[in-house]
Amino acid sequence: MVSEKFLGSTLKSQLGSYIKNAATCRSFLEHPIKGASVSRLYSTQQCYKGHDMLAPFTAGWQTTDVDPLVIERSEGSYVYDINGKKYMDALAGLWCTALGENEPRLVAAATAQLNKLSFYHSFWNRTTKPALDHAKELVETFTARKMAKVFFTNSGSEANDTQIAAFIAEPVMGAGGVIPPPATYFEKATISNIIQVQAVVRKYDIFFIAYEVICAFGRLGTMFGCDKYNIKPDLVTLAKALSSAYVPIGAIMVSPQVTEVVYYQTNKLGTFSHGFTYSGYPVACAVASESIKLYKEGNLVEKVKRISPRFQDGLKAFSDSPIVGEVKFCISHILLLSMPRTSNRNHCSVMQIRGLDAYFGAQCEKHGMVVRVAGDTIMMAPPFIISAQEVDELISIYGKALKATEEKVKELKSKHKKQ
Ligand SMILES: Cc1ncc(COP(=O)(O)O)c(C=O)c1O
Repeated sequence: MVSEKFLGSTLKSQLGSYIKNAATCRSFLEHPIKGASVSRLYSTQQCYKGHDMLAPFTAGWQTTDVDPLVIERSEGSYVYDINGKKYMDALAGLWCTALGENEPRLVAAATAQLNKLSFYHSFWNRTTKPALDHAKELVETFTARKMAKVFFTNSGSEANDTQIAAFIAEPVMGAGGVIPPPATYFEKATISNIIQVQAVVRKYDIFFIAYEVICAFGRLGTMFGCDKYNIKPDLVTLAKALSSAYVPIGAIMVSPQVTEVVYYQTNKLGTFSHGFTYSGYPVACAVASESIKLYKEGNLVEKVKRISPRFQDGLKAFSDSPIVGEVKFCISHILLLSMPRTSNRNHCSVMQIRGLDAYFGAQCEKHGMVVRVAGDTIMMAPPFIISAQEVDELISIYGKALKATEEKVKELKSKHKKQ
């Protein structure tokens, strides 16, 4: 068994050749796991290393030692960096630009609203038409269970943070690992020896919050995750694809029963003491309304269902790779490629090679694609508008990155044997 300590030092020496300069190399030695990710495996012209932003989900050493990937413009399924290099956006931004980039109708909706009324709030029984219209559309669009009202937030986090004591679940856990539920997990209304969450929460009179921040608007091949898993929630949280991420917006839909409780209490207390400056921000609501029109008019749920087999079959072809632990196909249009450090596959002795996942991510970038590298998993959730040809391109780039990573593993293993 190769010890982690040894593999750490192996990577320090072997992957170091991919690192562009001495400063980066020095920090790589200090942080073995970051080895592959520090390298931009292609040359960049502009340098923003050590920039002034405290960047989210970014370690200090990355900011100080590595040029960030600076995205400048976008079109459809692609983004372009400041050097003009083109990347397939295989994660749709952060699981959010479902309608792709540069959609003229969304730009027009934002522009028209900005020209008409750039801001007004929704406090004290004052509000705007886009906020009222969008609330109505959302209530009408969600059909898994009758919803009554919508409270607007700026983001998915705010929508979830705003919640009351209740049971909360994503129909499919997204960023947490792309984990679909077992078949009967949500569905059945009666309790048997299998855990059936909805029956349990109903029995104990607990509200059920469907956390639809990633799953809604077609990602799972249904308009909402609740439709796919027959969930009848009391509250629903939304964000991301709600406006296809053109403008920040989140929402909480609440059932008639929850509304009744809120009205009863607020009538007693004098007000509903909760709100944000941008609750029902008219520009965001106008863009979100237009997004919903585009989902419906373009029948994007059906499009996602049609294109998913191409996406999944293309990736299935990589299942036999010795460095792929698991490829999940059970969810239409969401993929998780897992590259576990521990695996029971005999031929898979790549586990514990630190930085391999990041090396794969860097190879994708080199070949013109951005994916999410999360520990030992690679995640992709392309925009719904992705074409068949673009899916083929995604798979081709994926294959190139996988091949390069396999080669790297071979190289490391043969060097290890010789030592
Ligand atoms: C599953 C999940 N929930 C919530 C969030 C946060 O959403 P927001 O950034 O809109 O607050 C994210 C962001 O990626 C997410 O992936």
